[in-house]
Amino acid sequence: MTPAMPDDYRGLFDLPDDLAYFNCASVAPLPRAARREIAAGAMRHAQPWSLTNTQWIDDVEERRSLFAALAGVGGDAIALVPAASYGLATAARNLDAGPGRFVLVPADDFPSDVYTWRSFAARTGCSILTVGRDPDQDWTAAVLAAIDERVAVVAVPNVHWTDGALFDLEAIAAAARDVGARLVIDASQSFGVMPLDLAAVRPDFLVAVGYKWLLGPYGLSYLYVAEDHRHGVPLEENWIQRLGSEDFARLVEYEDRYRPGARRYDMGQRSAFELTRAASVGLRLIAEWETAAISERLGAVTGRIEAAAKGLGLATTSGPLRCPHILGLALPVPASVAAAVFARHNVHVGFRGPAVRIAPHMYTTEADVERLLGALAELV
Ligand SMILES: Cc1ncc(COP(=O)(O)O)c(C=O)c1O
Repeated sequence: MTPAMPDDYRGLFDLPDDLAYFNCASVAPLPRAARREIAAGAMRHAQPWSLTNTQWIDDVEERRSLFAALAGVGGDAIALVPAASYGLATAARNLDAGPGRFVLVPADDFPSDVYTWRSFAARTGCSILTVGRDPDQDWTAAVLAAIDERVAVVAVPNVHWTDGALFDLEAIAAAARDVGARLVIDASQSFGVMPLDLAAVRPDFLVAVGYKWLLGPYGLSYLYVAEDHRHGVPLEENWIQRLGSEDFARLVEYEDRYRPGARRYDMGQRSAFELTRAASVGLRLIAEWETAAISERLGAVTGRIEAAAKGLGLATTSGPLRCPHILGLALPVPASVAAAVFARHNVHVGFRGPAVRIAPHMYTTEADVERLLGALAELV
């Protein structure tokens, strides 16, 4: 297999040798170093007199900068949010549409996205345009065929969450711009492990959760905001998003101005001092490994699995184009039967719709792949 798969990353995680974890698209295992940071953070909370501006402000800005660096933008472009849904709601709050206009979403999109846009449609009077794709068609072709001047918002992921099918964001962004539509991207299933050229795509908003591919704790996610939208309305008003809030003695000198850039959209309690440094651990690992190299390595892993699965007669569900790090396979048996086989082999995968979703990360070893292939062989 190329590139070679050294096992040395596995030791950074609490993964037993006799277990293969292929469900990173659901929840990534927390790195050991992140677990240690959470313990240290809990200790600081247990002794709150030890909390200083380092925890309230500096660690938070460091986390923001680490994510921003992965995105290739400055910290001012990033808001710290708890969940994708919060980031999407912030985007929806700051966009507009009306009767006769559409929000374009792909079929079977993640519920946090669909519900956000349904609520947006109810508020603005626009409608949802759900775009499906034929089995031999890729998502880009399906989306491009549906974009016209009636579309006010194009809301797409760059990877379909069920099976890793790919969207060409640069082509979709160009088509959206041509008709004056806004672009909102849910990059939760690829940010950090698949290159994304924000300068070329130029979305209005982009969200990414922290607990999947970014190897972070649950509850800390990210929102990129294009410059045009950095003077908008946050979902909530909280004390720490205001200018000068680091001076606790002067908080009742109420301040109308927000901290600069996208910080106005920061969630309440964004300092999350038990979790913030743990999130930075994951972001640093991604930066150290480098997105392009991660993508290449995971592409080799899923490519090998795909070839072996096809040899067993299993079909992929991702269509003609898929991302490097997720593989969807059609199940030849009912999901409950397949689940029992995977459990017996101590292999953890995701079941989404009619497909089994295989999602490795840098801890995946040759032995994991062999274990998975053993389970797949028993399914056919
Ligand atoms: C594409 C996508 N977006 C978002 C989420 C998580 O959403 P939220 O942060 O609103 O819980 C997931 C989780 O599976 C996902 O696959």
